Amino acid sequence: MNGRFFVLEGIDGSGKSTQLRLLAQRVQAAGIPCLTTCEPTGGPMGKLLRQVLAGQVECDSRVIAPLFTADRLDHLLHREHGLLRAVESGTVVLCDRYYFSSYAYQSVDFPLEWVVALNLPCAQLLRPTATLFLDVDPELALERIAQNRTCMELFETKERLARTREQYLRAFELQKDTETVILIPGDREMNAVAEDIWAAVGTLLPSGA
Ligand code: ADP
Ligand code: TYD
Repeated sequence: MNGRFFVLEGIDGSGKSTQLRLLAQRVQAAGIPCLTTCEPTGGPMGKLLRQVLAGQVECDSRVIAPLFTADRLDHLLHREHGLLRAVESGTVVLCDRYYFSSYAYQSVDFPLEWVVALNLPCAQLLRPTATLFLDVDPELALERIAQNRTCMELFETKERLARTREQYLRAFELQKDTETVILIPGDREMNAVAEDIWAAVGTLLPSGA
């Protein structure tokens, strides 16, 4: 594996998409080919998932985790846009959410071990070089979301964000022997957070940039 695969995780409003953009700029400035992506994807399964999450398509909630796995397998293996081939051919891939999001969100309702087992094919195909968890207080995350959106999504409550954060921490504990997870305090000015992320990622880049 010549390339690298870094994943940003965190509850809504933790700053993932902001930090992904800042990190991509720095990787590119170091002269390293870099691709940014996110989940759910814009592919057919990702579109279906967004409809399910918005309540436009009804299904048993136990089906959501396998749908995320299917979207993820497509993300990894797609003939033209597959991440696996990109990483193998030397690209640095930066992704907003990967399987720890499934562990954190779906295991609020179902056993965490079940969601981890569903994602085993993905983990066997491509494990992140490192998963960077932006840790923010749920109250602050909610404030940021409220300030920047015209309408809140139904599931975005402080209690829900707090439970999801707890599930992330539980998943990290369960997977600590097989995964590299780096916790980054996200309750700070965005350039300070970006510096910490760069310090963590820099030593893991192909050229040791
Ligand atoms: P996520 O992708 O995790 O939901 P975003 O990057 O979209 O988070 O950030 C949510 C909102 O909070 C955005 O409007 C963003 O501009 C703002 N934001 C992100 N990071 C910070 C920060 N460190 N301090 C203050 N506001 C921030
Ligand atoms: P999100 O990144 O928040 O998308 P958007 O920026 O469009 O709001 O992801 C959508 C939702 O999907 C979010 O609530 C988290 C959830 N999710 C899961 O439940 N499991 C997963 O595996 C992933 C990737 C996301």
